[in-house]
Amino acid sequence: MLETLFEAAKSAQKRAYAPYSKFKVGAALRTPLGHIYAGCNVENAAYPQGNCAEASAIAAMIMGGEHEIVEILVIGDGDDLVTPCGGCRQRIREFGKGNTAIHIAGPQGLRAHFTLEGLLPHSFGPEHLERQS
Ligand code: THU
Repeated sequence: MLETLFEAAKSAQKRAYAPYSKFKVGAALRTPLGHIYAGCNVENAAYPQGNCAEASAIAAMIMGGEHEIVEILVIGDGDDLVTPCGGCRQRIREFGKGNTAIHIAGPQGLRAHFTLEGLLPHSFGPEHLERQS
């Protein structure tokens, strides 16, 4: 199962459009139906307009008509773990649960495993808005 997610993220990473940072990232997520959606980072000459790989994978999931992330794998190069940026932790939070698994990989394979609660404790999410009277 994780192998499939890894391969999907690795393929996505190869398609990354990162001419400015040269830092290619891929992400792949699995939904409760067992479907996998992948995405890559897409940069822009107006730098802040770039998209992270996680955001692209989430957009693909939404286009597939699904709204729940069971686990997500992010792959990037370099010595440091490529964990989701703050904004992407919140994006995952929108469609995940506290125990949603976040796997981090490098070119050789899996490197670390986290949960959404671990990376974004005491988070704000959709339920907060639902509970308003
Ligand atoms: N990036 C991602 O795609 N995901 C992350 O979680 C970290 C950063 C991208 C954004 C930008 O295109 C490049 O990596 C360098 O920051």
